[in-house]
Amino acid sequence: MVGSGTSLLVAAERGLPAVGADLMPYATFLASTLINSWRADSATVRTVAEDALSQYRSVRGQVRLDVPAAKWAFAPPVAKTLTQLLGALDEAPADVNRELVRLAVLSAVEQVSYAVKDGTSLRCRLPDGPARPGRPGQQRRVMRAADVVAAVRQRVEVIAQDLEQARSTEAPAVGEAAGAVIASRRRVGTERQGRAPVTVVRADTRQWRPAKDSCGAVIFSPPYPNRYDYSAVYQLELALGGFVSDAADLRQVRKQLLRSHLEAPPRDEYRVELPALREFLAAVNGCRAKGDQSGRVLRMVAGFFEDMADVLLLVAEALHPGGAVALVVGTQTYLGQHLPTDLLVAEVARGVGLEVRELWVVRAKGVASQQRGLTTSPSRETVVVLRKPAIDRALWSAAAGRTEVIGRPDAPPCVGSPR
Ligand SMILES: C[S@@+](CC[C@H](N)C(=O)[O-])C[C@H]1O[C@@H](n2cnc3c(N)ncnc32)[C@H](O)[C@@H]1O
Repeated sequence: MVGSGTSLLVAAERGLPAVGADLMPYATFLASTLINSWRADSATVRTVAEDALSQYRSVRGQVRLDVPAAKWAFAPPVAKTLTQLLGALDEAPADVNRELVRLAVLSAVEQVSYAVKDGTSLRCRLPDGPARPGRPGQQRRVMRAADVVAAVRQRVEVIAQDLEQARSTEAPAVGEAAGAVIASRRRVGTERQGRAPVTVVRADTRQWRPAKDSCGAVIFSPPYPNRYDYSAVYQLELALGGFVSDAADLRQVRKQLLRSHLEAPPRDEYRVELPALREFLAAVNGCRAKGDQSGRVLRMVAGFFEDMADVLLLVAEALHPGGAVALVVGTQTYLGQHLPTDLLVAEVARGVGLEVRELWVVRAKGVASQQRGLTTSPSRETVVVLRKPAIDRALWSAAAGRTEVIGRPDAPPCVGSPR
């Protein structure tokens, strides 16, 4: 669940071998572009961008894209320019410099569209729409092809400057010629690739099996059961980048994502037995009103913990004995009922044989606007710190196979702050 690849990037910077997965193709594109960016060169990035910007008019663009939000999100010249620019980039040599420019184009999409990523969905902000004071929105003006060109240039420049800054922070040894610095940096890069490979794969983490006992640490942040639908929020980038071909393809991605959103399909079976979860589900069920979303909330929440049990079982399998997990997750509130997602995920982890070491509450968050007035308990974001017991492997496998709690089953999860 590498998302934009921050954890992998930090691993790469520190020379740690790492592997990450995500199911959303835009995320794997982002993460792999980021972790390979050490190979890029700012001058080449600028040249690739300028070539595309000078040639795009000769490329056939598209005005219509086959995903729901594309119907209103783009002024026709904007959709055409974006697709033309991406088409022109196909002519550039297929390397990380080109991928960084593609990233610049895709990251400009929100700025030049009438769509805003707000909360759990994409919101429509048309230039002549009603003013909504205090709400995030666009500049409220008609977007043109020139806005696309300016936004892409600006982003390319930020990327090129980032590359230059990254290079300049690797200070030359006294008396070392500039050419030698670049050469030695290339060597470091090559060695780093040789010694500490960092890779990203497209996979469903409920099924993905890295080699058994191969990981010293697993660090991730799953989607939260907060109704956020990554496939809906990133549908424009997914369609423009060619990661999905049409609306049916997008629906397919949505169906496969971890059950964190209301469109998630039901599970075939439910096995997670947690009294606190049952209590939450019963309480929400008790508040159901005709026509509300509580049925889908119940399905999402129950499915989320089932999915997390699948993920954590494979995490436990991939860790070597004594290996650690740091998992970031937020809590939620529905119909006035607080869902202690962090504590429940910790319980699910215990159920697959991991020890719960600590829970660090790193952020107190407000309550979603539609829940205000119904509850007094604000949400929090927590790092759940787990460990695979450092015991005999065969014994652990046998214990995990029976999904029994081992280690220190009596130890209560401790809620505190990071050390
Ligand atoms: C909270 S985000 C991760 C954000 C990340 N921590 C970061 O800093 O960018 C969760 C990620 O899980 C991915 N995801 C959802 N369901 C998945 C699944 N079944 N398998 C793998 N990745 C999944 C989403 O595409 C999303 O990128």
